[in-house]
Amino acid sequence: MNETISALPTFRAIDVIRKKRDGIELTREEIEGLVNAYTRGDVPDYQVSAWLMAVVLRGMTRAETAALTDSMLRSGEVLDFSSLPTQKVDKHSTGGVGDKTSLVLAPLVATAGLAVPMISGRGLGHTGGTLDKLEAIPGFNVNLPVAEFRRVLDVCGCAMIGQTAEIAPADRKLYALRDVTGTVESPYLICASIMSKKLAEGIDALVLDVKTGSGAFMKNEKDAVFLAELMVETGERMGKKVVALITDMDQPLGKMIGNALEVIEVVEVLRGEGPEDLRELCLHLAGWMLHLGGVSKTVAEGTQLSSQLISSGKALEKFRHMIELQGGDARVVDDTTRLLQARQTCQIVSPKSGVISSMQCEHIGTACVILGGGRERKEDSVDPAVGIVLHKKVGERVEAREPLATVYYNSEARADRARRLIADSIQIADAAPVKRPLIHRVIQRSGEKR
Ligand code: URA
Repeated sequence: MNETISALPTFRAIDVIRKKRDGIELTREEIEGLVNAYTRGDVPDYQVSAWLMAVVLRGMTRAETAALTDSMLRSGEVLDFSSLPTQKVDKHSTGGVGDKTSLVLAPLVATAGLAVPMISGRGLGHTGGTLDKLEAIPGFNVNLPVAEFRRVLDVCGCAMIGQTAEIAPADRKLYALRDVTGTVESPYLICASIMSKKLAEGIDALVLDVKTGSGAFMKNEKDAVFLAELMVETGERMGKKVVALITDMDQPLGKMIGNALEVIEVVEVLRGEGPEDLRELCLHLAGWMLHLGGVSKTVAEGTQLSSQLISSGKALEKFRHMIELQGGDARVVDDTTRLLQARQTCQIVSPKSGVISSMQCEHIGTACVILGGGRERKEDSVDPAVGIVLHKKVGERVEAREPLATVYYNSEARADRARRLIADSIQIADAAPVKRPLIHRVIQRSGEKR
């Protein structure tokens, strides 16, 4: 009898779910218990889904958020790159539509002499994911073992992988579950997810790109600032230099949305071309990374240096080198037609003349998921070739019957749903809207805004 009692686990997932459902603060031990049991595979997805939804609805205290971040961080290895002679820096975004800046920034910043050990995620909800974009490059391996990750970083100055069974395994599982259970939109879960990965990377400094607008998880600026402060505070608690930029996601970034299409735009930017908003954001984020990493005295100087590194062709060469080292077909850098291409395309034309006044950016991201560019269930595979190319952005003039967007697809039924969603997402008015800034504000030390 005694033996049976001592064999019973002290932790019961159902108790933790009920407590959170009823708005009672969880202890560090309860949160750690749930994270560890889920990572080991001892708690099923359905119980953790229920708990995640309770967190979305009830929120978390600062102590709970810290306990969640710490347990997720400690679920795996914390890397130590102190033997590398240079500063280690990274950037992470809270998720957007058409946001391919990570693929530009890792090689660009490495070209300036810093090390960028980047651990990223897959598509989340309606937003695209860096790993899915990298995997659109034939052969690119985002699942390097730690020793290989270290080797690539050593040789090239940047390496890009996903959460593994060794690094941030708790985020790997929770991230995939949140993607398909409507439990992404919680600042506490986003903070723990992002910071557990980033703190496991052994970095010295981190630039956070916190999106706001109709395509972001934080639709309004107040919520974005709250999330930014939470993450900056968490990073500082762990002794890192952290800055958060609140940036605009009220329309897609750049013109291309979809995994392979976005790689094309990355190559364009690294060639010194590409859409203005994407180029500007990349250069600004790179400026901050170089500044925090001690390469430039000011952000402006870092931005200027980044622009020169692109013009010289060195950043593009670094991208090619990283692709080669991670097993990918580096010839895509010279010839993007080597990327997988969709079998069909169709155009969405403007119903009238006027000016693009707004875009329902989340719906454009969802349209890409519907085309097959993201997942609706955990086990879904992603179609790298599908996506959307916008021909007009907010503020631009359009004539009746002029193309607004081209849809790249492999299934008629999916294309039909996506087409309707995109057409309804683009609003046309007589007058131009008030222009939103690309960078809304910068949050540096907890609470300090510029
Ligand atoms: N990026 C992450 O890594 N996690 C989130 O929860 C959102 C964006």
